[in-house]
Amino acid sequence: MKPSHIQPVIKWTGSKRTIAPFVGSLIPYTPRAFEPFIGGGAILPFHKAPYITAGDVIPELIALWVLIKESPEEVAEGYKERWERLQSEGYTAYYAIRNSFNETRNPVDLLFLSRTCVNGLIRFNSNGDFNNSLHHTRPGILPSRLKQIIVQWSGWLTNVRFVHSDYRHTLLAARPGDFVFLDPPYAGTVGRYMPQEFDLLAFYAELERLNSLGVKWVVTLDGAAGGRQYESGIPDGLYLDRMLIPTGNSPFTKLMGTSIDAVYESVYLNFQAPLEDLADQFKDWGQISRF
Ligand SMILES: C[S@@+](CC[C@H](N)C(=O)[O-])C[C@H]1O[C@@H](n2cnc3c(N)ncnc32)[C@H](O)[C@@H]1O
Repeated sequence: MKPSHIQPVIKWTGSKRTIAPFVGSLIPYTPRAFEPFIGGGAILPFHKAPYITAGDVIPELIALWVLIKESPEEVAEGYKERWERLQSEGYTAYYAIRNSFNETRNPVDLLFLSRTCVNGLIRFNSNGDFNNSLHHTRPGILPSRLKQIIVQWSGWLTNVRFVHSDYRHTLLAARPGDFVFLDPPYAGTVGRYMPQEFDLLAFYAELERLNSLGVKWVVTLDGAAGGRQYESGIPDGLYLDRMLIPTGNSPFTKLMGTSIDAVYESVYLNFQAPLEDLADQFKDWGQISRF
């Protein structure tokens, strides 16, 4: 995979796109890598292992990844049909496709919705139905442009195995010497992907298990958005290094029409980050700091 000039193929809430080059540079060479909270896969092209396992609890998302990997032309054609329908029929087409997705769970519908909904926010209600509205002022990416991106990603995904699974189940296959990148849903965002709160204590227990197994990991957690603190942090003793890095502005704050906060991501590692080696490469990122 060539991680330079990467365009997202699936736009996903909580994407690590803006910090992907930095996080990617922390990833070590290992025989196998795991990414059990894959979402929109912003870090995926930066893995350095020849075998990668990617998982998520949203079945339609995993179905979409598999389709992009195995049938990129079909995905591109499916997006084109839906996009052309939106241009000719207007907003009713969006809501018809949204209804269709909620009934049939067609993964290409999900791709279309993610590309045309308000601020690209993936949102499900308590019934598991996609409920974000059409972004009226944006037409959605041109089908010819998205096709190029889909075909490029398909080529990158040849060594990736996708699993629809809870992260702990995905990680049962991890062995000593493997690497895991973990980007769990944020505390305080119930209902964004799942109706129930993400269990941070169970997550910390899993990190402890990976430590005892001799598996290297990098975790990103929403560190601080403006004055709000979403996470209390990974308990001392579980990690060896941690830092705060700026990510840009919060799409949720934008959506709610409040003032736009600067968002920082906390990055934790169970090994020492090669920050000094990276200083030159990331010299413009002045705010990266250990904390
Ligand atoms: C912050 S997003 C990951 C974003 C991703 N790194 C990117 O760049 O697009 C978190 C993801 O975890 C998934 N998720 C939530 N709970 C999960 C669980 N228990 N096991 C596996 N995946 C889960 C959500 O569906 C969501 O896609």
